[in-house]
Amino acid sequence: MTIIRVSAICAMMALCWLLIPSPGFSAGERNLVRGKQLYEKYCLACHGPQGRGDGMTTLDPPVADLTSSDVLLKPDSRLLRSIHEGRPNTAMDAWQSAMSEEAIRDVLAYVLTLPR
Ligand code: HEC
Repeated sequence: MTIIRVSAICAMMALCWLLIPSPGFSAGERNLVRGKQLYEKYCLACHGPQGRGDGMTTLDPPVADLTSSDVLLKPDSRLLRSIHEGRPNTAMDAWQSAMSEEAIRDVLAYVLTLPR
């Protein structure tokens, strides 16, 4: 009897563990906490705290507003590539040597949560 009860409790706990999302992880299992940390470390200086491109305003071509439809209408794969490889002839660097593929995906996931 006790064994059955204990295993029932274990099963319920396992189920809860599966159902309750752990903090900082989005539905797509992106680590938004890490994404935010990386954004603040590498991107904020140019793109600004809200992603509006109001960090380094003296650059030419200007820093992209990451909350604009110009950027958001581009497919994720394109944006990932821009972060990965940078943008030619702009201040937007390639980040592939600073961050892993997973980290770049986390940063983009965080960027996509910035309020429009
Ligand atoms: C030195 C300044 C600078 C830093 C730091 C920087 N960016 Fe950018 N970023 C730019 C500029 C300038 C553009 C506009 C490029 C263009 O006109 O195509 C841009 C464009 C972008 C775009 C739009 C790309 C596209 O395909 O339209 C994304 C997304 C982006 N940056 C993400 C990031 C992320 C994420 C980081 C941090 C890892 C970062 N940027 C760091 C300057 C910067």
